[in-house]
Amino acid sequence: MKNHVIVTGAAGVLGQAVTDVLTQAGYAVTGIDRAEGPAIATEGTYLGGVDLADPGATVAAVDQAIRTNGALAALVNVAGTFRWETVADGDVATWAMLFDINLRTAVNAVRAALPSLRQGGGAVVNIGAASAIKAGAGMGAYAASKAGIAKLTEALSEEEKDNGVRVNAVLPSIIDTPANRADMDGADFSRWVSPAQVASIIAFLLSEDAIAVTGACIPVTGRC
Ligand SMILES: NC(=O)c1ccc[n+]([C@@H]2O[C@H](COP(=O)([O-])OP(=O)(O)OC[C@H]3O[C@@H](n4cnc5c(N)ncnc54)[C@H](OP(=O)(O)O)[C@@H]3O)[C@@H](O)[C@H]2O)c1
Repeated sequence: MKNHVIVTGAAGVLGQAVTDVLTQAGYAVTGIDRAEGPAIATEGTYLGGVDLADPGATVAAVDQAIRTNGALAALVNVAGTFRWETVADGDVATWAMLFDINLRTAVNAVRAALPSLRQGGGAVVNIGAASAIKAGAGMGAYAASKAGIAKLTEALSEEEKDNGVRVNAVLPSIIDTPANRADMDGADFSRWVSPAQVASIIAFLLSEDAIAVTGACIPVTGRC
């Protein structure tokens, strides 16, 4: 049975939590990220310096991962970023930048991984955002890019049903990260979802227990 999972954005906060939870669950994890190395040691194989917005670099990294750890059981698309800008006062270039980093990276990784995922069944979990359901002020460009993740998830799940590949997404609200704590000093952090809680839902979606679930975009919002 295949047990190799690629986690993109593996050097980041959620990527490290996903790597830890999946490693504990017995998967062999390859982390791929543009950062040369994760801030804290992660288990498994790590491929740094990879810009997943570049299709050629993505194919090369996914192929290297498969040569090292075998055919893919799953792909978890965590790579992404955030900007708060109003439509009127923000930079129009932000829309393209967030599209590239939040959506194009996932499309490139999926296209590179699909041939291997289709061999004996596989799963994809994408990271959307709760704000893509109802965007607040300053969230337009970010939420639009994450709405793209939801539509990628829905379309791909339909396309891959007969190929044995399930495709789902989690939609976190504010995750309890050091960056968010610094940006929102004074907020009630206990209401936020933890990286480990988001990672647990991702692990469930990859598991046999979720074999009947595909095309789902699941809000993971703690008490927000
Ligand atoms: N934090 C939240 O509250 C929250 C809420 C909802 C959804 N999300 C989503 O959850 C995911 C993880 O968030 P996080 O807080 O863990 O973010 P993070 O700590 O910034 O981690 C994201 C990682 O993705 C990498 N990355 C970005 N662009 C890349 C590219 N083109 N190629 C390869 N790697 C790339 C980043 O590298 P660099 O450091 O070099 O950019 C970083 O290591 C993101 O998709 C985010 O949008 C987060």
